[in-house]
Amino acid sequence: MKIIALYGGKSAEHDISVLSTFSMLKSFYYDYYNVQLVYISKSGEWFKGPLLTAAPATQEELYLTAETGELIPTGAIKEEDAIVFPILHGPNGEDGTIQGLLEVLDMPYVGAGVLASACGMDKIMSKYILQQQDIPQVPYAPVSKMLWQENAEAVFEQCEGTLVYPMFVKPANMGSSVGVSKATNREELAAAIQEAFKYDQRVVVEQGIEAREIEIAVLGNEEVRTTLAGEVVKTVDFYDYESKYLDNSATLQIPADIPAEVHEKAREYAKKAYLAFDGSGLTRCDFFLTSNNDLFLNEVNTMPGFTPFSMYPLLWENMGIKYGDLIEELIQLGLMRHKQRANLSLDHA
Ligand SMILES: Nc1ncnc2c1ncn2[C@@H]1O[C@H](COP(=O)(O)OP(=O)(O)O)[C@@H](O)[C@H]1O
Ligand SMILES: [Mg+2]
Repeated sequence: MKIIALYGGKSAEHDISVLSTFSMLKSFYYDYYNVQLVYISKSGEWFKGPLLTAAPATQEELYLTAETGELIPTGAIKEEDAIVFPILHGPNGEDGTIQGLLEVLDMPYVGAGVLASACGMDKIMSKYILQQQDIPQVPYAPVSKMLWQENAEAVFEQCEGTLVYPMFVKPANMGSSVGVSKATNREELAAAIQEAFKYDQRVVVEQGIEAREIEIAVLGNEEVRTTLAGEVVKTVDFYDYESKYLDNSATLQIPADIPAEVHEKAREYAKKAYLAFDGSGLTRCDFFLTSNNDLFLNEVNTMPGFTPFSMYPLLWENMGIKYGDLIEELIQLGLMRHKQRANLSLDHA
């Protein structure tokens, strides 16, 4: 059997994808699988690389070019006896688009399907789903581009009418804190909205809160398992792209030092959200926890960071599942899901 590692991507989170992929490539069980590299460049070209029977030596090798790989037509990855492992974060990868392509190609793949990927990526749609499920979240106001361009004053009134400063402004479809900023007054709010619109047509403004950040890992298809919570211990008040990936100003505390009831409550919400989003494979659910122990679900990430130092695999390691075994489990879940869906469509053919 072959694993097709699909990584890189036309996304602001390109380099994080390469980092996750390099880590994963060290842990595949090469006795059972060969790994086919398929790299999507930042400009969206697809390169097919070598078939690996062992982990590559350096991360640089993963940035394929016309010299080191073969330029293939977009999406041309159909193969028999193969499963695709999309290790793509953010738009054009984690948002259901690649998943849709793989469904059409009838290829098994690891992780969330089209619906969960698309809804999980979209911060506004996510809020509607959580609201429907009575899962607590911070107050928010969606901002449409049309209203912003035609009547910024109305947008300020809408935000200031329901929220108080500080507010957090985010593009609806992004990740890794790209385009996210904090606003403490109207002037900053205007700048923050302007900035967020660089990344998406839709923007959401949220109530800023003083809170700890705890995360739960979810694994499974129909049978859903969750971990104890881990905490991202912040040394800066805003966990932005730089602090996340560049200067290591966040450390992970696993399990989080919080009361047992809070672990339980977070696990319950995480599972409920996973089912509501029609999750499969994996997801990381990120919460805010206030000093009164109030929990707010901030977001679900259907393809969380996956280096050996990332929260998702570390949360499972704390539950007794090792990095390599976790990857194997995800592959099995992907194969199982594909088989089940194939049986469904046969029944109705
Ligand atoms: N409403 C909020 N109140 C306080 N901090 C927030 C809020 N929203 C986001 N943040 C901070 O910004 C970071 C990035 O926001 P998040 O919603 O997680 O976006 P992303 O999808 O980019 O990870 C969070 O980890 C947190 O540190
Ligand atoms: Mg986040």
